[in-house]
Amino acid sequence: MGKESILVRGNKTLSGEVKISGAKNSALKLMAASLLGQGQSTIQNVPDISDIAIMSDVLRRLGASVQRIDHSLLIDTSAVDSFSTPYELVSRMRASISVLGPLIGRFGQAQVAMPGGCQIGARKIDMHLVGLESLGVLFEVDHGTLIATTPDGLRGAHVVLEFPSVGATENMLMAAVVAEGSTVIENAAREPEIVDLCNMLCDMGARISGAGTANIEVEGVPLSSLHPCVHETIGDRIEAGTFLAGGALTGGPVTVQGIDPDYLRMAIMKLKAMGCVVSCGEDYITVSRNGDLTSTDIQTLPHPGFPTDLQAQFMLLASLADGISVITENVFENRFMFASELMRMGADITLEDHHAIVRGAGALQGAPVSSTDLRAGAALVLAGIVAEGYTTVYDIQHIDRGYEDYVGKLRSLGADVTRTDAPAQV
Ligand code: EPZ
Repeated sequence: MGKESILVRGNKTLSGEVKISGAKNSALKLMAASLLGQGQSTIQNVPDISDIAIMSDVLRRLGASVQRIDHSLLIDTSAVDSFSTPYELVSRMRASISVLGPLIGRFGQAQVAMPGGCQIGARKIDMHLVGLESLGVLFEVDHGTLIATTPDGLRGAHVVLEFPSVGATENMLMAAVVAEGSTVIENAAREPEIVDLCNMLCDMGARISGAGTANIEVEGVPLSSLHPCVHETIGDRIEAGTFLAGGALTGGPVTVQGIDPDYLRMAIMKLKAMGCVVSCGEDYITVSRNGDLTSTDIQTLPHPGFPTDLQAQFMLLASLADGISVITENVFENRFMFASELMRMGADITLEDHHAIVRGAGALQGAPVSSTDLRAGAALVLAGIVAEGYTTVYDIQHIDRGYEDYVGKLRSLGADVTRTDAPAQV
């Protein structure tokens, strides 16, 4: 259990406006993509969170210089002379595997420690490997390290992904951009973060079409023709969805600013189905609720389906809604640990395989709870805000991985939340 915790005083409401940070799940890959351009790239709107700090260390270990100026990262990859990422860094953040594709693109080889699983699942990378093998990459595993070589160089291919894996699509893109000939990635991931990565790669000189659709086409170009760029990270749709869930929970109105509403169409649809009023502008979304929350069923799916990263937050809404909601987790094999913690606060949830049957309870009671992953942790804090009494959320290092100043932003909306490094005496 981590040292720090968040103490939450309940029976509060959230209202006001909060500025959304740049997307963690895009910025990490944009940083990896900078390896393909010799020189200094600037990535703007990068959230100040621990995962970004770890990825900065990964790039520095490869020989890059990484400097943060406010929310911009200046990354100079001129001196990158290594293609090896050791276990002690990959074990701190499995997303380090995102350097695999660009290292292969830059050096024709890579040595990256195999990432482990995590609380929500095995997090395999078999689709990454199969996809890259189609481009001519040979893999060996040597004592936990992935050894990638391209004896005949990278060659374009028509690849069909078994599942629209975000990570596999990204790693393949960052190798295919410098492969000989053209590549088609069929059944590609369609997340907004994929589009953001493709936009940056094109800004660097790559030739990609179909980003955001299930069929992405890449025309390989020489590595030497790729150059650094300045790129602004898109807003974090999951952070935005988390604060919108907080507004829906307590009635709002809560406005999230700096996010394209198109990224959250399914979540907005579900907020409306649960009795909320949602209005959108070009770069903001406002949620409010007057009547009771009503139950709804949710299936998590690859984008544009309902995002698995909002599953915990909406299970919380369902736990206080009238009626029964069935939530089905189709993306990860073990992402219901949040339910166990929420039940300790009085939620009425039955887990059956990858379904959670959630019966609306009248109210939740504050309790000591523990974050199992960053989204569950963020949702537990929201649960504490609406619960009766005090809640202490432990293991908040998970939250710090993906939410910049989560406590400060919640306080600006009226929450009574405090970070504390000692067990709360309440
Ligand atoms: C990205 O993970 C995100 N992480 C996840 O966000 C997000 O939940 C996920 O995409 C789905 O949207 C980052 O971008 C850093 P996948 P990723 O490859 O790339 C299985 C958060 O909370 N799979 O689409 O790992 C895999 O085990 C995190 O911010 C294979 O079996 O997601 C999972 O069950 C959590 N073999 C499913 O597919 C593979 O080779 C989806 O994985 C690859 C994936």
